[in-house]
Amino acid sequence: MTHATLKFGDKEIELPMMSPTAGPDVIDIQKLYAQGGVFTFDPGFTSTASCESNITFIDGDKGELLYRGYPIDQLAEKSHFLEVCYLLLYGELPTSEQLSDFVPRVTRHTMLHEQMAYFYRGFRRDAPPMAVVCGVMGALSSFYHDSTDITDPEQREIASIRMIAKIPTITAWAYKYSVGQPFVYPKNELDYTSNFLNMCFSVPAEDYVVDPILSRAMDRIFTLHADHEQNASTSTVRLAGSSGANPFACIAAGVACLWGPAHGGANEAALNMLREIGTVDRIPEYIARAKDKNDPFRLMGFGHRVYKNFDPRAKVMKESADEVLGLLGIENNPTLQVALELERIALNDPYFIERKLYPNVDFYSGIILDAMGFPSSMFTPIFALARTVGWIAQWKEMISDPTQKIGRPRQLYTGATNRDYVDVENR
Ligand code: SDX
Repeated sequence: MTHATLKFGDKEIELPMMSPTAGPDVIDIQKLYAQGGVFTFDPGFTSTASCESNITFIDGDKGELLYRGYPIDQLAEKSHFLEVCYLLLYGELPTSEQLSDFVPRVTRHTMLHEQMAYFYRGFRRDAPPMAVVCGVMGALSSFYHDSTDITDPEQREIASIRMIAKIPTITAWAYKYSVGQPFVYPKNELDYTSNFLNMCFSVPAEDYVVDPILSRAMDRIFTLHADHEQNASTSTVRLAGSSGANPFACIAAGVACLWGPAHGGANEAALNMLREIGTVDRIPEYIARAKDKNDPFRLMGFGHRVYKNFDPRAKVMKESADEVLGLLGIENNPTLQVALELERIALNDPYFIERKLYPNVDFYSGIILDAMGFPSSMFTPIFALARTVGWIAQWKEMISDPTQKIGRPRQLYTGATNRDYVDVENR
């Protein structure tokens, strides 16, 4: 093992270095405070590894995303979402027997406790679906007491399968509630993604046949969003889990964090931005605003903390957008035309080139979801649906790590130092 030597003041500290299977070496600073009496400072975790993991790897310079070592473009083309769920949860692609066992285990848990339907009715009809999904996910812990003991591997497994199985029903019902239509129950004869589309778009008044093209596109969107290293919402799930909180509460915390427009909320914000731009001739005005330091406006769906080259998911999503809109007969979709032209202009503009800003996963996803008939308020809930398996895989990895302890960051304190209380008459 190699070491890094840190010299400051009269101190010289040897810090062990750890070598990954991929990515940069890591300096282990766990003993830094004990040996040197100092903290490190990295508020946005731009240079800090919060954990050891073997689930997902991103090479931001190469534009590479691997789930358990498999490139995302191969999985998007050749696999399907439930197989990707198995891969993320258990580390290997399933044999046909393993898959034949896994799929029905998920299918059998797609229904919600009937009493949960009443829980939805406590929300205003105009509640953002993300508020509903966040609330209902947390509420699962009040219905499924038999799978909240995190020290029991069996209960952890049941809770994991339950959340993966129920999140499509939870999400579809949040949509149905927002549009005032009756809830549609899961159908076990449908595959995972077709079941979700059926619960979203079928109505009692007429039969609904899931379009296999839309189901395939939706399934690919789920795969592209399934996991992404230690992003903000995954780090939230890990931190919540480190306190021993029940799995449903931890995933609800992930949903809450994903909601932000800088994170999973960007897909809704990106489509709203493209619609606000409206026509190609207005793009320069918005490019100028994105570059203006005095204007808080940013190109939504652009830029990424890790990808400093293209986001491989955006590449697949862009191909999928072309295919789906073409098959739906709306290839000259004005929003897509604005997106394509905005990308072309931005990628030739020095501001974006210097800062290595490229379209991310959220830039094209909204265009596809909009074409499928989803309102933009459903875009982030769909992201949360897909990311639930990634959050669970990361949570399971953290919980089963024998060295794991409660996460408790320190701080750089710059507030008032010790001072005595002053009575109000003397202030
Ligand atoms: C997701 O972490 C993940 O893995 C997340 C995710 C996942 O799968 O979990 O990939 C999902 O969250 C994708 C990102 C979705 N967010 C957006 O599309 C919102 C718009 N993007 C930005 O807010 C921003 O790019 C972030 C938040 C994504 C990344 O921000 P960073 O890494 O903190 O970068 P930064 O804010 O320090 O920006 C660096 C420079 C700044 O300019 P300077 O101060 O150097 O002059 O780039 C500029 C920023 O102003 N910049 C942008 C910009 N993004 C960054 N300028 C205009 N438009 C943008 N979108």
